[in-house]
Amino acid sequence: MSHPAGTAWTQQKYGGPETLSTDTLPISEPGPAEVTIQVEAAGLNAADVHLMHGEPLLLRLFFGLRRPRAKVPGRDVSGTVLAVGSSVHSLAPGDAVFGEIPGGAFATHATVPADLLVRRPAELSATTAASIALAGGTAEQALTLAGVTAGNRVLVISAGGVGTFAIQLAAARGAEVWALCGSRALTLARELGASQAFDYKAVDPAAESPELPAGSFDTILDIAGVSPLRSLRRLLAPGGTLVLVAGNGGRVLGPIGRILRAMFLGGGGGGRRIKPLAATTQPELSAKLAHSVAENELRVVIEREWPFPQLPAALSHMADGHAVGKHVVTM
Ligand SMILES: NC(=O)c1ccc[n+]([C@@H]2O[C@H](COP(=O)([O-])OP(=O)(O)OC[C@H]3O[C@@H](n4cnc5c(N)ncnc54)[C@H](OP(=O)(O)O)[C@@H]3O)[C@@H](O)[C@H]2O)c1
Repeated sequence: MSHPAGTAWTQQKYGGPETLSTDTLPISEPGPAEVTIQVEAAGLNAADVHLMHGEPLLLRLFFGLRRPRAKVPGRDVSGTVLAVGSSVHSLAPGDAVFGEIPGGAFATHATVPADLLVRRPAELSATTAASIALAGGTAEQALTLAGVTAGNRVLVISAGGVGTFAIQLAAARGAEVWALCGSRALTLARELGASQAFDYKAVDPAAESPELPAGSFDTILDIAGVSPLRSLRRLLAPGGTLVLVAGNGGRVLGPIGRILRAMFLGGGGGGRRIKPLAATTQPELSAKLAHSVAENELRVVIEREWPFPQLPAALSHMADGHAVGKHVVTM
């Protein structure tokens, strides 16, 4: 392939956004089962912040002990196919695609396994598509893990990237959705389908607030990971499920610490359960969600688009933990 070299944000050591720098890298030829894409947009996720810092430290066992194994970070990608490997028949040059990849989205070009990418519906911009796979997939998998069905009452805690999808997808299943989120997201949460929305700084599950009646939720999606487990468990109806999507369990173990505490604590009887979520990459699910967006059944909430050179500032903003909806870098 005779494309010129591309530009990528690279990271040689774990740390804050200052550890990122731009590099000129040759554009790789795709292997037999790979495609090379011209990246148009890359979605930001909390995972990018965790991987940038290499924290919780447990992550380093899988992503590089001393330095990040993936030199180019970024997991949610959207772009146009430039070249396909010899055994790729599902995609062709010129196809608009998106998906969740193990790394490499924060670059002008990425060479990735073809089976991780799905076609981008014509109705979706690259920015919208780059917002869907990881956050939307996580939200849907959390609802499936809990077995949410019509008539259930679901409490969604947080209206960031994952939460804005979770509220809508729970409502689409016919659930009665309550949201506990930041004050800036209250109106949005109601627009997305929450029948009740409370500011987490005013209504604290740990304080036995009357707004959140004990024993009244069939499902709680804990996407913030900060409220005491006992307080959240107290809110579950008999047979209800608390899904741990996030968990602040310390610098070493991260969410694992909270999961271990949950195992020790148990559901508390009455058929209540606490289930940790480990979301996986599911291209078919991404395609399904994109179809729903194209049909105007699902809204992708994008708080801000950042130009590619401002990636460190965008990651710094994500690290502050105050995103309402998605943040996306555009090339
Ligand atoms: N288990 C899995 O497989 C999996 C997969 C994906 C993501 N995750 C995890 O899920 C978490 C959320 O990801 P995200 O991308 O949605 O994050 P995000 O976009 O950064 O979420 C930030 C939002 O959370 C709100 N928030 C903060 N503290 C809160 C609280 N106590 N109660 C309610 N809302 C609160 C913030 O509101 P304010 O601005 O008002 O503070 C902000 O709107 C991350 O920890 C991520 O690692 C887990």
